[in-house]
Amino acid sequence: MNIAQVDYDGLIPNNVGLGQDPRVKRALEKWHPGYIDWWKEMGPEGFQESLVYLRTAVSVDPKGWAKFDYVRMPEYRWGVLLAPQHEGRKIPFGVHKGEDAWQEVPGEYRAMLRRLIVIQGDTEPASVEQQRHLGKTAPSLYDLRNLFQVNVEEGRHLWAMVYLLQKYFGADGREEAEALLQRRSGHADTPRMLGAFNEKTPDWLSFFMFTYFTDRDGKMQLEALAQSGFDPLSRTCRFMLTEEAHHMFVGETGVTRVVQRTCEAMKEAGITDPNNIEAVRKLGVIDLPTIQKKANMHFSLTLDLFGNEISTNAANAFHAGLKGRYREDRLKDDHQLEGATYPVLRLIDGKIQNADTPALSALNMRLRDDYVVDANIGVGRWNKVIAEYGIPFEIKLPHVAFHRHIGEFASIKADVNGNLLSEAEWEKRRGEFLPSDSDREFIEGLMQPQFEPAKFASWIAPPRVGIDNKPGDFEYVKIADA
Ligand SMILES: [Fe+2]
Ligand SMILES: [Fe+2]
Repeated sequence: MNIAQVDYDGLIPNNVGLGQDPRVKRALEKWHPGYIDWWKEMGPEGFQESLVYLRTAVSVDPKGWAKFDYVRMPEYRWGVLLAPQHEGRKIPFGVHKGEDAWQEVPGEYRAMLRRLIVIQGDTEPASVEQQRHLGKTAPSLYDLRNLFQVNVEEGRHLWAMVYLLQKYFGADGREEAEALLQRRSGHADTPRMLGAFNEKTPDWLSFFMFTYFTDRDGKMQLEALAQSGFDPLSRTCRFMLTEEAHHMFVGETGVTRVVQRTCEAMKEAGITDPNNIEAVRKLGVIDLPTIQKKANMHFSLTLDLFGNEISTNAANAFHAGLKGRYREDRLKDDHQLEGATYPVLRLIDGKIQNADTPALSALNMRLRDDYVVDANIGVGRWNKVIAEYGIPFEIKLPHVAFHRHIGEFASIKADVNGNLLSEAEWEKRRGEFLPSDSDREFIEGLMQPQFEPAKFASWIAPPRVGIDNKPGDFEYVKIADA
């Protein structure tokens, strides 16, 4: 079988030869009804019968892997897709560096590997759950379609991780695969595993911020796992990254279009002061300071996903050859880091300062630093739009010590510039940095659906180009009567 082509004959599309693997095929077919039940219960609310113009992977060839067509979401062909195997691939880092990449689970690292897969897997259905109410307030059919595209692909990412569990981990893999369908985002007793995935995504600006900031954490984690010495995980993550790019595109262009619409409306109305919030809001657009507060919130919640400043788990996973650094294959060092150090921002004697730290224990922070650089690129594009309209305002990512719940800075309060605040000062000034109840109410008030082709809600500009080069009046979703 040609690995680049996907076999669509069976119940589960795949390019892993499931047809010749009856044990795993049966296990996945047994898991499938529970997945569909989960999708119907926790997937997009109110649009399960609608026809959505979605892309489906038909190949893993980077040059042309997707086809677009109308599909009802519960009938979407979720499948198992791995990037092609690299002949003779070696373990690229850690104590086993240079040995043949593992095609089976290395026994000594079984538990660690399973945990990495389960944690990644848990984020995928979580975001679908977080976003399930958004369809009702979509600002356009174009945006509605993008939301659903992200949702079905997060569903497929769950399939990707479940395949690894079912194929390589036997009975405990099966149990984990079931548990992934049982946990629920934000549930008091059975929450998802990571904090940011238990937060609400109450409005579309949050959705764009989430896909920009939090899906980008997903990208960093997948990049690190794509380096793995466990080859099936590496190949799985390499293909997931192809899909992930669209999610971040939705976030980046979504925020850009919100910013653009705000600037446009300000210009038309002759408002030059971005802090004249009341006047800007009267125009039916979201003022720039509130957009900044939303960015502060989603950025800080996402930083928590990188874990503690000093982490033995991260050190162990690297040492073992299971989880590498961002673009490990392009880094020029010994890829073992046994004696190396890395500067980490820490809380020392009550002050935030850099400290040289054993590089192995600092791997979470190294990944986080790479993340911050990556996240700043899109912020620069948002600021370019604001500058084009001549408005004196710049969106900035807050300091890494701001509004943290994990790691050393969880014990302190800091402003967006990293200045320490007392509890009392923080309480008093919190509304300067993070969305207040009234900010949230204002945004929620704007969230009125716009389901007519070619039309957009007041607070967001149309996209520059359509999906799959479709014209502006294309009906991306044919909404079925409920
Ligand atoms: Fe994902
Ligand atoms: Fe994603």
